[in-house]
Amino acid sequence: MSADRDVPFPYMRWAKRHLTGFTPSNLGMSGIAGLTPTDVAPAGPTPYWMPEGEFGDPDLRAALAARDGVPVDHVFVSAGASLANFLVYLAEARGAHVAVETPGYEALPRCAAAVGAGVTGFRRDPDRGWRVDPASLRAAVRPNSRLIVVTDLHNPSGVRLHADDLALLVAEAERVGAAVLVDEVYRELDLTVRPTAALGHPRVIVTNSLTKAHGLGGLRIGWILATPDRIRRIAEWNDLVCPAHPVPSIAVAKAYLPQADARVAATRAAIVDRVARVDAWVRGRKDVTWTRPDGGITGFLRLPPGTDAEAFATFAFEQHGVRVVPGSFFQAPDHVRISFGLIPANLDKALGVLGTALDAWAARRPAS
Ligand SMILES: Cc1ncc(COP(=O)(O)O)c(C=O)c1O
Repeated sequence: MSADRDVPFPYMRWAKRHLTGFTPSNLGMSGIAGLTPTDVAPAGPTPYWMPEGEFGDPDLRAALAARDGVPVDHVFVSAGASLANFLVYLAEARGAHVAVETPGYEALPRCAAAVGAGVTGFRRDPDRGWRVDPASLRAAVRPNSRLIVVTDLHNPSGVRLHADDLALLVAEAERVGAAVLVDEVYRELDLTVRPTAALGHPRVIVTNSLTKAHGLGGLRIGWILATPDRIRRIAEWNDLVCPAHPVPSIAVAKAYLPQADARVAATRAAIVDRVARVDAWVRGRKDVTWTRPDGGITGFLRLPPGTDAEAFATFAFEQHGVRVVPGSFFQAPDHVRISFGLIPANLDKALGVLGTALDAWAARRPAS
């Protein structure tokens, strides 16, 4: 494994080198295959420039607000969820402290260092279906914590954020005067349709984008949902780091949004079958376990005790041609993340090859 840990975001460096397309044995891709101009295109010529309000294109802002059922002044349009998360860290936690779920998406702890904040992890517990571990949350949250951060669906496990866990996070945030950041890039792929957490409590800030659930990552269109005072501060930081948004993308996003519900519903319907296929494969094996995802496009496999997942992932790719993502990128070195965005025939084949790789790996390990 050639992963470089001394860069701001090691997983993304690795992903750009290794997760390059929906090839038949790639169980690493974390989204759905992208839409094309045949699927969605603006009605007229694509503009290159248009005036943009303080909080992002007004029509796009209104469309996003309507979709999520929040007032317009609770929305900030951002250039993707990555920038949205960074803006929230800048506006809320600069020089303070952030408590972040672990295992989790590596950008979330790494953003803390980038804004000069301390960071502590709190556990998502694999033995309780990746529920938040209350004792570890209590220990992770400090008097100067300004953000408590989770993903919903959980990346990497694909498990829904339990309503009681969200309530617990909000209670901890109340205790120290923090906000709860819920990254919802996978929420719309939950097989049970649920509203955004932004509706629940003024301390909740939500980030989202058209990347994962909508297959439009190339547009770089995302958004932040929060109370108007927070949105104002976020907009001020955005002036510094991203003073104008990608205008052609805004036009495509506006053309897309009227069909978003139908598209996402079709993707959810396809996911039902894929989760069932992977679940049957996992249950048919004695060496790996997982918590069945609630939807999304990824799940987190626990490998046999003592397995170095980085070494296994390298072996699986180099010897068998099947790609999985080492759990070390999610702070869980005995897991691998697998995705089920492949078409079913390729998914079945790739799982077969992964099984062969696991068998071969077990056969080559010296008996202990
Ligand atoms: C949890 C999470 N948030 C944000 C992102 C990045 O989204 P975007 O492409 O909108 O920047 C990803 C991408 O993998 C992700 O998994």
